[in-house]
Amino acid sequence: MTYWGIIGLGSIAHHFVKDLALVPEAKLYGVASRSLEKANNFAREYLAEKAFGSYEELLKDPLVSVVYIATPHSSHREWAIKAMKEGKHVLCEKPLGLDSREVKEMISQAKSSGVFFMEALWTRFNPSIEAVVNRINTNEIGTIQYLQADFGFYAMDRDPQSRVLNPALGGGSLLDIGIYPIFLSYLLLGIPESIMATSNFNETGTELQTAMIFNYKKAKAVLYSGFTAKSSMVAQISGREGLITIDSRWHESQGFKVEKENDNDIESVSLPTLGRGYTYEIKAVHEALLQDWTEHPKWTHQDSLNLSELLDAVQSAAKKTINRAI
Ligand SMILES: NC(=O)c1ccc[n+]([C@@H]2O[C@H](COP(=O)([O-])OP(=O)(O)OC[C@H]3O[C@@H](n4cnc5c(N)ncnc54)[C@H](OP(=O)(O)O)[C@@H]3O)[C@@H](O)[C@H]2O)c1
Repeated sequence: MTYWGIIGLGSIAHHFVKDLALVPEAKLYGVASRSLEKANNFAREYLAEKAFGSYEELLKDPLVSVVYIATPHSSHREWAIKAMKEGKHVLCEKPLGLDSREVKEMISQAKSSGVFFMEALWTRFNPSIEAVVNRINTNEIGTIQYLQADFGFYAMDRDPQSRVLNPALGGGSLLDIGIYPIFLSYLLLGIPESIMATSNFNETGTELQTAMIFNYKKAKAVLYSGFTAKSSMVAQISGREGLITIDSRWHESQGFKVEKENDNDIESVSLPTLGRGYTYEIKAVHEALLQDWTEHPKWTHQDSLNLSELLDAVQSAAKKTINRAI
């Protein structure tokens, strides 16, 4: 049995613990909030054994094996490093840090503490994504020529102080949801040769929309993230011999379609997730602990660092184009 501790009891923590309950080897042991009352209520609702009124107390509890960090982006570095210094294994929400400098610091702490450390990039373990990677590796659609992936929802009605819009908490669409389309392009095509990007910001400096083109030697990826409107969230991967369409919302997909060149039939693949889909990253953590791995081969430290460098590169490319406040 793996004893889990959760830090930061906001929206994602509620979803995550519901999936944790679906994994038999996982025990929701401790939950920590900046408010003891909130921690007590959360513990009661999800049957956690212990509730803590501070994050530090949870990190000091010797029974906690893995800490799941579910705080805003701006505090991932601080709490992941503190947890690893206490010898805890860590699953930290995406993006690991605000930039690649923070990610390097976190990885370096993971190495010196000798603990397991992974970014909670759950999409990497989604069954449809796994199956699509397989299809591409076995050359079912030929060499990828074009990839399109977006992630948009309406967030302009959120509290400006919320983590989504507040620049002090790492707000903005790119770090919150743009990370997913970038991840898909990185997973399937690797690091691009060059990046074109353009963003719109609001008056407080929060980035609200970013459109990107990743240039590869023989392919183009067209990517988008935005808070100003809903988008289709269907991802397309177009190869010389076929097209794969990952069903909406592709980052948590329940299936995909394959259309082959010279074949009129469309193959529909249905792969419903267990729970919302966090179960797979939870199982990946357990697998790693069982094998004594300090990183998971499917989403390594280097993968997280590469992803953070791509996020940095998009931001610096966007700065060079004409952007306007909306
Ligand atoms: N994988 C996914 O599908 C997914 C989905 C949504 C979000 N996320 C990620 O999960 C993280 C949290 O997102 P969320 O939507 O759960 O955010 P949220 O609802 O705002 O909750 C964040 C929690 O962090 C804690 N916190 C610590 N310092 C804070 C501060 N200065 N201001 C506000 N809250 C603070 C709070 O918990 P206490 O009051 O209990 O201390 C708060 O409830 C983000 O990194 C986000 O990118 C991932």
